[in-house]
Amino acid sequence: MRSMFSNKTPAAATPDKRAPVHVGVIMDGNGRWAAARGLPRIEGHRRGLEALRGAVRAAIDFGLDYLTVYSFSVENWSRPQEEISDLLGLLKFFIRNDLADLRKADVKVRIIGRRDDLKPDVRALLAEAEATTRDCGGLTLIVAFNYGARQEIAAAARAIAEDARAGRIDPSAVDAAYFASRLDAAGAPDPDLIIRTSGEQRLSNFLLWQAAYSEFVFLPMHWPDFDRKAFAAALAEYGQRERRFGGSAPAVSVAGG
Ligand code: IPE
Ligand code: IPE
Ligand code: MG
Repeated sequence: MRSMFSNKTPAAATPDKRAPVHVGVIMDGNGRWAAARGLPRIEGHRRGLEALRGAVRAAIDFGLDYLTVYSFSVENWSRPQEEISDLLGLLKFFIRNDLADLRKADVKVRIIGRRDDLKPDVRALLAEAEATTRDCGGLTLIVAFNYGARQEIAAAARAIAEDARAGRIDPSAVDAAYFASRLDAAGAPDPDLIIRTSGEQRLSNFLLWQAAYSEFVFLPMHWPDFDRKAFAAALAEYGQRERRFGGSAPAVSVAGG
């Protein structure tokens, strides 16, 4: 059976070296999208979930290897209780409803963020999503839930310090690569591109370490309006960027190679 996430035609592999491998998305503006229509915020979050499904489909079709989506920050607990339970309800609905389709579409789900302060039923669902798709080899969908980059970095530092105190590691071996290997999404390449909707131009505690050399595209539209066309335009914008990683500007080729 075909999955709702698979394309009608096989994904056209675009062997474009300017195509990003890993895209991060800050899905912002659900509340304002709803307010502009006189709707409750939950309706914006529901439409936001639709947009997320579309973004996963598009990421598969565009041939991305990794898509990381920011769905709930550690700071989002400061929202009204009713909105928090709506957001948790949508996360549960997404996993229960879409997990089988994600697996059929060969999507490997990984969750980053703090698990220990989540309720057992939510923790169990997150674990199930990862276990069910463990052997999938297509797109890796990294869901940042109850995530905060500062908390992630502090937790890695704490774990390394404990290992050093117990004599398991030599402090002189802790370099940037080793540190990265202790972060939540260890093994995933850094995001090449980070897209944020809603017009805000900030990271809001998303992937602070991993974004060291990411390109940024800020879109004025709210997340529920983010569609395949907007995604393609952001990738095209990325394709125009010149990434230097601290080096000099690349020499213009005169040999046509
Ligand atoms: C993004 O939309 C969803 C989450 C942060 C969970 P918002 O809920 O932040 O919507 P705005 O920014 O208030 O419009
Ligand atoms: C960032 O959006 C978090 C998510 C998209 C999940 P926020 O709406 O929480 O960020 P701020 O408060 O505008 O910086
Ligand atoms: Mg917001």
